Amino acid sequence: MSSNKNLTGWQRFMQMMTKANELGKEDEIMTDHNYDGIKELDNVLPPWWKYGFYITIIIAIYYTFQVFYNPENYNQKMEYEAEVKQSKIELEAYKKANPELFKTDIKLLTDATSLEAGKKAYNTFCVACHMADGGGGIGPNLTDDKWILGGGMEIIFHTISEGGRPGKGMVAWKSSINLEQRQQISSFVVSLQGTTPANPKAAEGDITWSKQ
Ligand code: HEC
Repeated sequence: MSSNKNLTGWQRFMQMMTKANELGKEDEIMTDHNYDGIKELDNVLPPWWKYGFYITIIIAIYYTFQVFYNPENYNQKMEYEAEVKQSKIELEAYKKANPELFKTDIKLLTDATSLEAGKKAYNTFCVACHMADGGGGIGPNLTDDKWILGGGMEIIFHTISEGGRPGKGMVAWKSSINLEQRQQISSFVVSLQGTTPANPKAAEGDITWSKQ
């Protein structure tokens, strides 16, 4: 390219990096492709782009060897083990901070005093939606063997503590009713199971659970 003579160093460098075809000389690189009058030029790939591509290939090879073939280096296995270790530490801390969630002694209370206390609390907090005899209203029937969220002491305790499905109206009671009372209420709910309420609401839920 003789016209290069008049170019500055920078312009020459740019030309080297782009290998752009000079404007006005499109005919030289015109292909015979013609789609409804739209023609195609056979431009070369710009060298700057190709160099970038070569660099990524070199980095990929270097990286592969470093990560997969160099046992001294930090690798996926070490990363996995470090994360498991860290999550165990976090789990322990979480357990310590929330002992109630991990309590395993949520036991069914069957003594008359506890059930009486449970009934009293039930009549305060729950009766509006589940009726005094558990027959159901806004909330489901608690005396039949069909459950939406599940029956049994632990699950009922969990439902009372954490609430039902979002938007259904059964809120989480753990912040307003203490642990002991929730145990008493749950035990009372279990005791309602199998009784015959005056106005039973039709069974709801796919989970079957009964005391016996
Ligand atoms: C504002 C109305 C309302 C109050 C108050 C209420 N519940 Fe509920 N309860 C519901 C609704 C609605 C559902 C169904 C939740 C769902 O579908 O996820 C429900 C579900 C339940 C379930 C699960 C039933 C199943 O079939 O799995 C239990 C157990 C329960 N409530 C116990 C109680 C207890 C105990 C109290 C009092 C501490 C209480 N509820 C207070 C409305 C209420």
